[in-house]
Amino acid sequence: MTASYNIVVIGGGGAGLRAAIAIAETDPKLSIAIVSKVYPMRSHTVSAEGGAAAVVGADDTLDEHAYDTISGGDWLCDQDAVEAFVAEAPRELLQLEHWGCPWSRTDDGHIAVRAFGGMKKLRTWFAADKTGFHLLHTLFQRVLSYPDIVRYDEWFATTLLVDDGVVRGLVAIKLATGRIETILADAVIICTGGCGRVFPFTTNANIKTGDGMALAFRAGAPLKDMEFVQYHPTGLPFTGILITEAARAEGGWLLNKDGYRYLQDYDLGTPTPTPKLRSMELGPRDRLSQAFVHELDKGRTVETPYGPVVYLDLRHLGAELIDTKLPFVRELCRDYQHVDPVTELVPVRPVVHYMMGGVHTDIHGGTPVSGLYAAGETACVSINGANRLGSNSLPELLVFGARAGHAAAEYVAGKPSGSSAVATQARTEEQRLQRELQRHSDGTDRIADIRTEMQTILETAAGIYRDGPTLAKAAEQIRALQERFAVAGLDDHSLTFNTELTGLLELHGMLDIAQTIIESALQRTESRGAHQRTDFPGRNDEEFLAHSLIHRKPDGSTRVDLLPVTITRWPPGERVYGR
Ligand code: FUM
Repeated sequence: MTASYNIVVIGGGGAGLRAAIAIAETDPKLSIAIVSKVYPMRSHTVSAEGGAAAVVGADDTLDEHAYDTISGGDWLCDQDAVEAFVAEAPRELLQLEHWGCPWSRTDDGHIAVRAFGGMKKLRTWFAADKTGFHLLHTLFQRVLSYPDIVRYDEWFATTLLVDDGVVRGLVAIKLATGRIETILADAVIICTGGCGRVFPFTTNANIKTGDGMALAFRAGAPLKDMEFVQYHPTGLPFTGILITEAARAEGGWLLNKDGYRYLQDYDLGTPTPTPKLRSMELGPRDRLSQAFVHELDKGRTVETPYGPVVYLDLRHLGAELIDTKLPFVRELCRDYQHVDPVTELVPVRPVVHYMMGGVHTDIHGGTPVSGLYAAGETACVSINGANRLGSNSLPELLVFGARAGHAAAEYVAGKPSGSSAVATQARTEEQRLQRELQRHSDGTDRIADIRTEMQTILETAAGIYRDGPTLAKAAEQIRALQERFAVAGLDDHSLTFNTELTGLLELHGMLDIAQTIIESALQRTESRGAHQRTDFPGRNDEEFLAHSLIHRKPDGSTRVDLLPVTITRWPPGERVYGR
């Protein structure tokens, strides 16, 4: 079966839906399809909690938002991208309001804003602590108002079709039936989110397996800054469920096993002693996660069956505030941890949350493959540099989802539709998928076992702290896993929602992604933001004020190049936080 559209968006989360709306707004005559491996309202955007940053207060400026973002990113952000981002974020959030997003309000009716880590002004808009749910709902309803947008819900994109450096479409498999379809397109926008699931312990939904990053990488687009993996300091032990930074913005404390606010012992970049006690829990995520490791080393964490934890203390906030501003936090703590934050301490630990790295794009979402765009967490523009500030990712997916949609619409304008040049590629992919489904093996290796081993390797080698020898060993181990993966068998050969096959298709890409994280971390012999090398503890602007670009070579090995960071107005300096 073959279908054909002007533009196909892969991914039905916030960035994908915003991109689709932007295309329809730019040229209503263009045919658009959204291919998503889950029903769009199940995309991971739904689980964003704390809020979305954009300048709104009279005491705030775009330059201050830009500076906080750049210093928070340890000067690895491209400053032209950041300037565009902060300028367009307020308009995007207001637009959502007009489309029906129920932003929380102050008593006098203004948009309510809360503090967030690393932001020196109050600029984080929120809808209680279910911001992602409301944002995604609003976008989805808006997409429904364009009845010509075709949706492939629960279809898995398995490969991009590329002819002579130009994207021509993709092949996808319908998860409900196993039907394989070639979907031709003049442009493709990848919006599939991050890849937190290459690690064992993450806030990310099971679906966040880096599929789009792997598709682009195999199609010839380099991945950028893959060594920068963000740990969020407060995940629930065992499940990894996010306890939003908003809990600390509302006044929550982090306590060690002695009930001591241990962050006061660490350099978080907070400038003065007086606000320090008030704002230290809102220090940057990388520094807070590193402080946890030091507490662990000092024996000041608490051992649990699910690993070491510290405590988040919200008891002093009271039931009324918690129920008004943090109702979801209370619900999550009760349902998944069996503690009530109104009266009990909440055990938490750092957990993988966000990829600063992703598909290399320009500030319009364009990749080096003609007609191929990317936006949202799957892309690296880069506005997040070495460490993203909390509440910048929702506006990022809106601003750059819209930009990618507009750019793709302009790219396809006037181009003749369709291409038969990739028919052979499509047939080869269909045959591969049919072979994958029939995979049998005499060995004992199973997809799930290889995935677990990969996750453990990543956590050991590319966690909060890294070093050269451990990374080098991990690179060998991932190569060995790739060989085992090639011959691992499937137990389930059915066509209906074959989750083992989906796991196989995901793992195929995840092993590539794991390789890019490790190889990129190996070559960056400095410490910056979320990438901390114990063997190279300092930031080295002489050599590494640069993005890493990792390319896939035809034999499957990789090459890493450096690309200088774009500096417009803010030369590298010290990171300073606090309000
Ligand atoms: O803690 C949080 O609510 C996370 C927000 C973010 O990652 O932007």
